[in-house]
Amino acid sequence: MILPIVAYGDPVLRKKAKAISADYPNLDALIANMYETMYNALGVGLAAPQIGLPIRIFLVDASPFGEDEELSDDERKQLKDFKQTFINAKILEEEGDEWAFNEGCLSIPHIREDVFRKPKVKIEFQDENFKTHIKEFDGLLARVIQHEYDHIEGILFTDKISTLKKRLIKGKLSNISKGKISIDYKMRFPDMKKKR
Ligand code: NI
Repeated sequence: MILPIVAYGDPVLRKKAKAISADYPNLDALIANMYETMYNALGVGLAAPQIGLPIRIFLVDASPFGEDEELSDDERKQLKDFKQTFINAKILEEEGDEWAFNEGCLSIPHIREDVFRKPKVKIEFQDENFKTHIKEFDGLLARVIQHEYDHIEGILFTDKISTLKKRLIKGKLSNISKGKISIDYKMRFPDMKKKR
């Protein structure tokens, strides 16, 4: 089932999400619905707050990046095969010199900005069977994971841009929260006027 994606301005996107346990109700269905929602919106990642739930789950499927011809064969292969559900994730380490990448977000349509992040990340998480993993990622994969991880910490990529750029997109962000945008996937807008 495709779920509406929560738009910029909704307080759920600002909450520090809570850990869940294996007995969380209907978890399998929730995860399946999140994947369906992400694929429908052509996203490479989706976090539970973006469908209105302040819990620590996010998904990454980096396979669309596997087509990027600017990347090396090794990188493309790594991205093409990568699909992972992250539950109760905790970033243990980030390292390296920060690099810029033009990020976007399904909750903030039509806005893209360069965001600086460290290139390597070490993360502990549980998979959908609640098996714990500690893994290291780099490059674009690390980038997507860091972006999604921010969502479960209540942080958005637009928080990480310069004050000037923030000022420049203020009007656009306000329009998004009011639903004054055109998009081809289902969204829920916090400031949309109730229909009379
Ligand atoms: Ni996002």
